[in-house]
Amino acid sequence: MNEIKIFSPATVANVSCGFDVLGFCLETVGDEMIIRKTKEKGVKITKIIGADLPFEAEKNVAGVAALAILKAANADFGVEIEIYKNIKPGSGVGSSSASASGTVFAINELLGSPFNKQQLTAFGMKGEAIASGAEHADNVAPGIFGGFTLVKEVNPLKVVQLPTPSKLYATIIHPQIEIKTSEARSILPKVIPLNKAIKQWANVGSLVSALYDCDYDLIADSLEDFIVEPHRSQLIPHFDEVKKAMLDAGALGGGISGSGPSVFSLCKGKEVAEKVASAIKKVYQPTGIVFDVYVSKINAEGIKII
Ligand code: HSE
Repeated sequence: MNEIKIFSPATVANVSCGFDVLGFCLETVGDEMIIRKTKEKGVKITKIIGADLPFEAEKNVAGVAALAILKAANADFGVEIEIYKNIKPGSGVGSSSASASGTVFAINELLGSPFNKQQLTAFGMKGEAIASGAEHADNVAPGIFGGFTLVKEVNPLKVVQLPTPSKLYATIIHPQIEIKTSEARSILPKVIPLNKAIKQWANVGSLVSALYDCDYDLIADSLEDFIVEPHRSQLIPHFDEVKKAMLDAGALGGGISGSGPSVFSLCKGKEVAEKVASAIKKVYQPTGIVFDVYVSKINAEGIKII
C-alpha cells in the first residue's frame, strides 16, 4: 500500500467528571486525510484545507506525530500528508487530536500494522502535546480505540477501553469562538479541596460502572463536574442556559466538551438527542453568535479507512 485515505472523527474529552482521563468518539463529524509514501525520508505537509495551520512538520501536530511513528519504526520511507479539516481548531471536539491520531493510524497501515492501539495512542499524544502544552491522551485514545476510553496513566501510557451502551447519542453545540486548550488549562486551580475531589472520583467510578451495566439513570447521575466546569464555563457564552436547555429537553447530562467552547450532552436515543438539538438552537439563535449543532451516535469503531 502506497497511499491511504482515512476519516478521523471528532472526540469529546473529559465527559464532565473525568478531566484528562475519559473520552468518547463521535460518528458524524471528522477530518479526512490522505497520506502517501515518498522515497525521500521525512514528513511533508502538502495540503491543509479548512484551517490555517503550520505546514512545517515540526510545528504541526500531524507532522510531529508522523515523525514520532516513522522514527520508532525506523521506516525506510517518508510521507506526504494532505489534511482536510472539518473540525475547527479550538472547537473543543479534538481537532488537533484528530490530525495526530489520524496520521499515526494511517502511517501504521502503510507500515503493515506493526503497532498496537496503545502504541499508536502514545505517538498521537506527542503531536497533541504541541497544541495543548501538555501530554494528555483523552482525545487521542477514543479516536484510535473508538467508543469510550479511560486513560489510566500517561507515562507509561495505559488506555482502558470501556463499553458503549447502544442507545447512547451525543448532541453537541459548537459556538464559533476559539478557546485554546493551553489557555483553558492555565486558568485551572493547581490544588483542589478534598471534598470536591471525593465527589469527582465517585462520579468517575459510577460513570464507568454505568457504562458496563448500560445503566442510563446512573450515567445521568454521574455526569457532574465539581472541579473544572466552574472555572471554564465562564469562558463559554450562555453556558448555563445551554446546559439547562439540554437537561430540560431530556438529556441524561452534559458539560463542556474538552476545553470548550463546545458543550456536549449525552442522551438515551436519537429522538431525545434531536429534541436537545432543537432546544439548544433556541438558546443560541437570538445571541448572534455563529454556531453549529451536531447529533451523533457514539462511534464504537474510531478512525476508519475510506
Ligand atoms: N483534557 C483536556 C483538557 C482535553 O480539558 O484540557 C482538551 O481537549
